[in-house]
Amino acid sequence: LSRITVSLSQGENQIFLGFLEWRALTPSSIARLGKETCMYLRVPLANRNPQRAPLLQMGYANPDQVGGGLLSRLYSRAFIVAEPQGSRRVVFVSADIGMVSQRVRLEVLKQLRSKYGELYRQDNVILSGTHTHSGPGGYFQYTLFWITSKGLVQPALKSIVNGIVKSIDIAHENMKKGRLFINRGTVENSQINRSPFSYLANPESERNRYSSNTDKEMVLLKMVDEDGHELGLISWFAVHPVSMNNSNHLVNSDNMGYASYLFEQEKNKGMLPGEGSFVAAFASSNLGDVSPNTRGPFCTNTGESCDNPQSTCPIGGAAMCMAKGPGKDMFESTRIIGQNIYLKAKVQTCKPALGHSFAAGTIDGVGAFNFTQGSVEGDPFWDQIRDQLLGEPSNETKACHKPKPILFNTGEMTWPHPWHPDIVDVQIAAIGSLAILAVPGEFTTMSGRRLREAVQSEFDSHGTPGMNVVIAGLCNVYTHYISTYEEYQLQRYEAASTIYGPHTLSAYIQLYRGLAKAIALNGTRELSPGPEPPFFNVTSLTLLPSLSTESAPAGKTFGDVLEEVRQEYREVRGEVAEVTFVGANPRNSAENTHNFLTVERYSNISSSWRVVLNDASWDTRFYWSKGSRGQSNVTIEWHIPAGTEPGVYRLRYFGHYKKRATLVRVISVPFEGSSSAFQITAP
Ligand SMILES: *[C@@H]1O[C@H](CO)[C@@H](O)[C@H](O)[C@H]1NC(C)=O
Ligand SMILES: *[C@@H]1O[C@H](CO)[C@@H](O)[C@H](O)[C@H]1NC(C)=O
Ligand SMILES: *[C@@H]1O[C@H](CO)[C@@H](O)[C@H](O)[C@H]1NC(C)=O
Ligand SMILES: *[C@@H]1O[C@H](CO)[C@@H](O)[C@H](O)[C@H]1NC(C)=O
Ligand SMILES: *[C@@H]1O[C@H](CO)[C@@H](O)[C@H](O)[C@H]1NC(C)=O
Ligand SMILES: *[C@@H]1O[C@H](CO)[C@@H](O)[C@H](O)[C@H]1NC(C)=O
Ligand SMILES: *[C@@H]1O[C@H](CO)[C@@H](O)[C@H](O)[C@H]1NC(C)=O
Repeated sequence: LSRITVSLSQGENQIFLGFLEWRALTPSSIARLGKETCMYLRVPLANRNPQRAPLLQMGYANPDQVGGGLLSRLYSRAFIVAEPQGSRRVVFVSADIGMVSQRVRLEVLKQLRSKYGELYRQDNVILSGTHTHSGPGGYFQYTLFWITSKGLVQPALKSIVNGIVKSIDIAHENMKKGRLFINRGTVENSQINRSPFSYLANPESERNRYSSNTDKEMVLLKMVDEDGHELGLISWFAVHPVSMNNSNHLVNSDNMGYASYLFEQEKNKGMLPGEGSFVAAFASSNLGDVSPNTRGPFCTNTGESCDNPQSTCPIGGAAMCMAKGPGKDMFESTRIIGQNIYLKAKVQTCKPALGHSFAAGTIDGVGAFNFTQGSVEGDPFWDQIRDQLLGEPSNETKACHKPKPILFNTGEMTWPHPWHPDIVDVQIAAIGSLAILAVPGEFTTMSGRRLREAVQSEFDSHGTPGMNVVIAGLCNVYTHYISTYEEYQLQRYEAASTIYGPHTLSAYIQLYRGLAKAIALNGTRELSPGPEPPFFNVTSLTLLPSLSTESAPAGKTFGDVLEEVRQEYREVRGEVAEVTFVGANPRNSAENTHNFLTVERYSNISSSWRVVLNDASWDTRFYWSKGSRGQSNVTIEWHIPAGTEPGVYRLRYFGHYKKRATLVRVISVPFEGSSSAFQITAP
């Protein structure tokens, strides 16, 4: 795509930008910067926020999906845009997690307040999750989410909050004057609509205005310093990061994270992942009904298509119906989708109640117990269990959610804490002509289009035409899905998970219009900030076992090699160097920045080992397998890519084991291990 980038707004010698703001059921102070203000741009530094085994993973609601190692790291990427003298600024964070929970947001805001006073507040901080389904769970204060993550897991919550705050700190310290550019383009071959039958329920006249049942457009914001050096970018594109399917046990950032990885590796040449100043965030958008598994749904037992309204198979039912990605396995699918997204961005920069179908899951990760999508009838069996265990929904709630049969009556359940939020943040940040709509969940394709259009026309009719409106998904608090009224009637997964009922979208449209108008009128209309969300006094309520002391097999110690590498590998695709160590629980290594492994190459010139890859590198995989009597193994794999420089290499492992120091105190002791040196030869 050779179209040149467009500057947002132009001052005399510099490009100046504005921004601002929004929030809370009704928006607060709004401002739109004039051309006279200079922009300071901060740039970001990717921050390490690795989460690790064996916290349960958040996304597929599959209790068997326990972390068992690491494929790539999870990062928080922060960007701050501000006026030079004025106090107005906005923070945008894209974090490699499933979604931002209200708990995470409240704790981040609390830390920011104690560090920066009133500089970073609820009204100028947007926190967005990329929606990877292969990250940790356990960071929610609302009870529904505790089912699959076994409660509130303090270490997971803490490392997410600390990682996000740290990335904002780094951004804050590195602010520079600069310019912003915006661009758009379409990404092909990377998505399908996973609820096409719901999409078809939208009016034909509306559908005819679009060539596809998914949004193919990518919006890109590029940051450049005064000397023209590229500092970073944010890209928004609507696709679920579910290329890694629900059988995966390795923590990773999925297709969007892989796009970031490729971009940052390209710009920070010669650096290890996580190093270098260029930061590329690939953030989520209206991905509600959008799957990356482009080959579509097939029955895993018989191989026939299950592209039907219920997504079920003749034999085995809904549990057998899974969509497949473009690749031969989930790793290759992740690579292909991530690469497509990366390549588009790269080209451009050169110049509360859940329905039965909620439990059915989607073709990207089926649910349990044979629930099917498209349920508009309740099931007497499950209804009875629901009534006895959880209480029957009130007649009022039942009527309000029609035609959704209510499975979890979360809005009326309060034990031990409420199950779903009833105070929700809505937020718009305007940076020059870019309006970022921070939405609290997963908008479907058509919901997103309606919202964007409504906001755009609000800007148009209040003297601010030509705004670029983009949806930033999974922001600030998680409220599941937002489908259109028509899609809602079909009660597939996305509709069953539209927790505030059939008019959820209309309500949001009204709120975001109000925010847009206030921004367009430059704060001349006062908006009340709305009520504060509650902060529940849940410190730790977890069923996850606490860590106890560990041991090595007889005659061995932590870090000893159990299975050695071969002496020699050829530099061809498909070769995997592999070593197994006496290991320890990765949760013991609690520092956010801890690196679990290195691939090192011997240099004859300096007679020393040089690190060429780390645990965030795509070609390395770290597996942890737990045995009995406090013993466990760690296996490190290096999938040697074609083009690897021949030479002498070794694989190293860094961990901590738990040891009893006194009768009552258990401590973490660091250790390391190394494979033998091995040779990589030309093919
Ligand atoms: C918008 O409002 C701010 C203060 O609220 C003011 O400084 C600025 O000049 C206004 N801009 C325009 C374009 O009216
Ligand atoms: C689910 O339903 C299918 C067909 O509707 C049936 O063949 C299968 O045995 C059921 N599975 C379970 C676990 O009940
Ligand atoms: C997930 O992908 C792997 C290949 O990477 C495949 O073997 C497995 O069957 C898939 N799981 C499901 C549930 O489709
Ligand atoms: C709910 O409606 C049903 C049927 O209309 C009625 O029998 C029942 O008493 C109502 N329950 C309440 C609590 O009003
Ligand atoms: C929170 O609960 C703990 C114990 O359950 C209690 O000790 C503490 O005082 C409570 N904190 C607040 C702020 O209520
Ligand atoms: C480096 O040293 C090894 C062992 O001494 C030798 O086999 C190899 O040829 C040397 N490589 C280079 C590039 O000098
Ligand atoms: C660890 O590795 C050893 C040697 O390969 C093997 O015998 C043992 O079963 C492994 N233990 C676990 C928990 O994977």
